[in-house]
Amino acid sequence: MTKKDLADPLAAFRDYFYHPKDTIYLDGNSLGKLPLGTAESLQEVVLKQWGQNLIASWNKDWLALPHELAKQMSHLLNGLPEEIIIGESTSVRLFQITQALVNSLQFPKTLLTDQLNFPTDLYILDQIAMQSLGKKAVVISYQSELEADLEQLKDSLGKTPGIYCLSLVTYKSGFLYPMLELNRLAKESGSIIIWDLSHAVGVVDIDLKATETRVALGCTYKYLNGGPGAPAFLYVDKTLMSTLENPIAGWFGHAKPFDFSLEYEAHNTINKMAVGTPPILSLVALQKGLSICLAAGTKALQEKSRIQTQWLFEQIELRLIPYGVTLESPRDANQRGAHISIAHLEAWRITQALQAASPQIIPDYRPDKYIRLGLAPLYTRYSDLQTTVDILEDILKDKSYLNFSHQKATVT
Ligand SMILES: Cc1ncc(COP(=O)(O)O)c(C=O)c1O
Repeated sequence: MTKKDLADPLAAFRDYFYHPKDTIYLDGNSLGKLPLGTAESLQEVVLKQWGQNLIASWNKDWLALPHELAKQMSHLLNGLPEEIIIGESTSVRLFQITQALVNSLQFPKTLLTDQLNFPTDLYILDQIAMQSLGKKAVVISYQSELEADLEQLKDSLGKTPGIYCLSLVTYKSGFLYPMLELNRLAKESGSIIIWDLSHAVGVVDIDLKATETRVALGCTYKYLNGGPGAPAFLYVDKTLMSTLENPIAGWFGHAKPFDFSLEYEAHNTINKMAVGTPPILSLVALQKGLSICLAAGTKALQEKSRIQTQWLFEQIELRLIPYGVTLESPRDANQRGAHISIAHLEAWRITQALQAASPQIIPDYRPDKYIRLGLAPLYTRYSDLQTTVDILEDILKDKSYLNFSHQKATVT
């Protein structure tokens, strides 16, 4: 423990998680850690609610579960509980809401994003653009592959109105957009921005109302520690939602699904965006992670994340740049989420050397030269970062990464 760990107001939150031995985990930006108590909750639900109570559990426990989680999520993001729905994947939610916005005819008929966005977002926008508008989505290209040129983006919002989709924190470099300013510009030109919060929720102090956000979505398996494939969330401003239709008219979006009517009658709240049966076990797994995050508070989480990423940024600059490493995340903490990306031509072999070190260090690798160091303020210690920099320096100095193969695993 360093002095900084002793002074860390969030230090105690680390005790709410399961920690594999001799491992420094810097991949919470991809898959968060297992909260203590999650396994027990799942066991209870599996054995008692599913095993014993069987179908009766729908009325007693399960039908209310997505709404309870939506309520918790509304506290985290400052939206209203009736503006949030939990379930499905981020990809499915993005498809639903983008198609619904296009179908509503309220926005200019152009879909736009930028080249920093996550691939699934690009694929989905392009598919809807081709199928519904007969043209490709516009992908704004900046001079840098890692940071948005905000003047260029603002210029586009003014000159090319449409339905935009941006990731609040970008997956490669951790670039953070000014949400309120861009939402206001969008509104002025009759546009709308769909915010993908996957890399931001749990580490950025997001206030959907204060930022005048109309649509947002994201996954819960990263900093919310909901577990592999945890359900996504979708937020749609109430007034806007009342004007939209779900393009996937599944029975759970029906006003009275258990009437089994042959006619579709949409629910009159965001529940109309429900599709099929809620994934109960995945929802149960999300409960603890979400509660821990709420208890810590997003202001404190963002504050710690800023201090930690700044410290790491400066250490990398000082000690690793002489060995061919470059820093690929924004220098300004106000433009940065909670992961720091570095680049090196041997990034993949360096990643393997980190995984083989003692203690084992787990970052993630993104083709073809990036290593992401994800800092999860709920459980990453300053001492973890100190050890990581020390080990990285040794690996680079003695070139021990040359002992590893160029062969890549499927998930890196
Ligand atoms: C920014 C972003 N959007 C979307 C996704 C995809 O989410 P899902 O697999 O839930 O569809 C990811 C996955 O990592 C992501 O990082």
